[in-house]
Amino acid sequence: MGGRDEKDKWIVRSQAGIGQTLEEVLALRISRRGMLKTLAIGGSLVLIGSSLSAVEEALAANPGLKFKAVKPTDPNFDDVVVPEGYYARTLIRWGEPLSADAPDFDVWLQTPEAQVKQFGYNCDFIGFLPLPYGSNNSNRGLLVVNHEYTNEELMFPKYDFENPTRNQVDVGIAAHGMSVVEVVRAPDGTWSYVRNSRYNRRVTGFSATRLSGPAADHPWMRTSADPGADAILGTLNNCAGGKTPWGTVVSGEENFHQYFANLNGLDRNDPRYAVHRRYGMPTAESERKWERFHSRFDISKEPNEGFRFGWCVEIDPYDPLRPVVKRTALGRFRHEGATFVVARDGRVVGYQGDDAQFEYVYKFVTNGKFNPRNREANMNLLDDGVLYVAKFNPDGTGEWLPLVYGQGPLTPENGFRSQGDVLINTRLAADLVGATKMDRPEDVEINPVNKKVYIALTNNTRRGASGQPGTDAANPRPNNAWGHIIELTERNDDHAATTFRWEIFILAGLPSQPDTYFAGFDKSKVSPIGAPDNVAFDSQGNLWIATDGAPRAIKFNDGLFAVPVSGSQRGNLQQFFSSVAGSEVCGPEFTPDNRTLFLAIQHPGEGSTFENPSSTWPDRQGLPRPSVITVQRFDSGVIGT
Ligand code: FEO
Ligand code: CA
Ligand code: CA
Repeated sequence: MGGRDEKDKWIVRSQAGIGQTLEEVLALRISRRGMLKTLAIGGSLVLIGSSLSAVEEALAANPGLKFKAVKPTDPNFDDVVVPEGYYARTLIRWGEPLSADAPDFDVWLQTPEAQVKQFGYNCDFIGFLPLPYGSNNSNRGLLVVNHEYTNEELMFPKYDFENPTRNQVDVGIAAHGMSVVEVVRAPDGTWSYVRNSRYNRRVTGFSATRLSGPAADHPWMRTSADPGADAILGTLNNCAGGKTPWGTVVSGEENFHQYFANLNGLDRNDPRYAVHRRYGMPTAESERKWERFHSRFDISKEPNEGFRFGWCVEIDPYDPLRPVVKRTALGRFRHEGATFVVARDGRVVGYQGDDAQFEYVYKFVTNGKFNPRNREANMNLLDDGVLYVAKFNPDGTGEWLPLVYGQGPLTPENGFRSQGDVLINTRLAADLVGATKMDRPEDVEINPVNKKVYIALTNNTRRGASGQPGTDAANPRPNNAWGHIIELTERNDDHAATTFRWEIFILAGLPSQPDTYFAGFDKSKVSPIGAPDNVAFDSQGNLWIATDGAPRAIKFNDGLFAVPVSGSQRGNLQQFFSSVAGSEVCGPEFTPDNRTLFLAIQHPGEGSTFENPSSTWPDRQGLPRPSVITVQRFDSGVIGT
């Protein structure tokens, strides 16, 4: 599908005056809020906060970001680019052994037995957890890395999409999941991973995991192979994630539907049919055809297996023997990830996005409180709490709507007979309460400095299309091929609050596009950006944005960008890093001292084949390998400053 063509069409439409202009959309909401003035300066829109705190904030000294921006690269350019004074090194690649008995990587001799002991494919989320637990050590720690999916056409010679072999299928399943790997920074700054660390661990599509929370005992969780629902096999499509205050990692199972097949083999009157359909389960064969060798992926044979995926998965990297647990209380959808913060009263709040067109933004608030003195006391906090979904009002206010069985429309009359029903059918529950349909919610993260929450909405080219929802204040562009970022402020900066205010922070794209917006900053000075996905914050509270889809959106490689969120530089977005052909940039993750930045380079060479790869990064040995890299300064200084 030609995203670029669609985008150009919209610009033409916009110039022809069809639909609201960007200025009209933003000004409408702002004038209703009565809080902000708009000033047109040099053709761009500038928003000036008139509340005292905002003015004070604008006047406050801002350390700003001092790196010299890199230029975006052409989509067939196959190397990473970092600013002057910085260097990047490859830390760990797909296939590298994670234990003493793991074989070295051999692309010609791949087996599932080898892959379950080697670093997985398509690294996505990265969490750095210092060693020892509870320390702030920036020289030694555990990386928890998600392996979202596999590109068989790049992994295997002469891969035949129509006839994958059993070995290829099983290597693929084993290359999914997560890795835990110990990493260490030598005195000269060089990072390496510890091959024989006792912490190293793989979780794959075959691993035994557990279910917990209100949906764990639901009848739909039982399968013929596992009637007690106590041996869930694997976690799949682990995309983004977050670290909990007690040092575990929660990973989101995102596009899990793609592994299942043959929904059309299920009776349409079976109540499970409509649910599977709402979650996008394939009607016939799946892309990778795992169902040919593993009947649990065939819905016509095993209708419930799919309900055991689409959850948030908690792993304790500090304890390799602790089971991986799917926490059903956080809901079931295409979880981008979940990010956590302790609210004022000690309850723990997890923000989440459902990454699909016209899906929702969620948050989960625990009933129990975080216990900083007793780690073990927090281990089941995520099993008990309230799941909310966001409604964005056009006046810049918003509400968190509870998804609680028996409340509002979530009753037996509408098909909900328990909280388990609500959680397994989270999307349907969110539809009923009237949540706002968003432009593909990706990462939702909390700024540790200003306490605001930033929501990356990656794109939605169906927004405003025939038969689809039109624009709204929070998703203001039709055919949104470039994505945007919303800044959300909880009432009284309390993350457990049930109301909030929000505003558009960035409308991504080429700065020359009339419909882009960078928090009012002079657009002639910012970098082009398309398809925001993963976000992170440095210790100054600057927002770092990794992209997934820039080649389609703006015809440049994906990259990493940094932007201050306060002071005179608010909105001054600059490109920090440019990635390789066919890849997206994931992570990003800083060490506590902000002197190392970890990035995951996912799917280098995507769109090409093993025989004719568009990327041979990182080793120039004829094969692209998804890898985690480190980015540092030659003078060992703080990144970005
Ligand atoms: Fe896997 Fe939504 O990115
Ligand atoms: Ca992502
Ligand atoms: Ca993405």
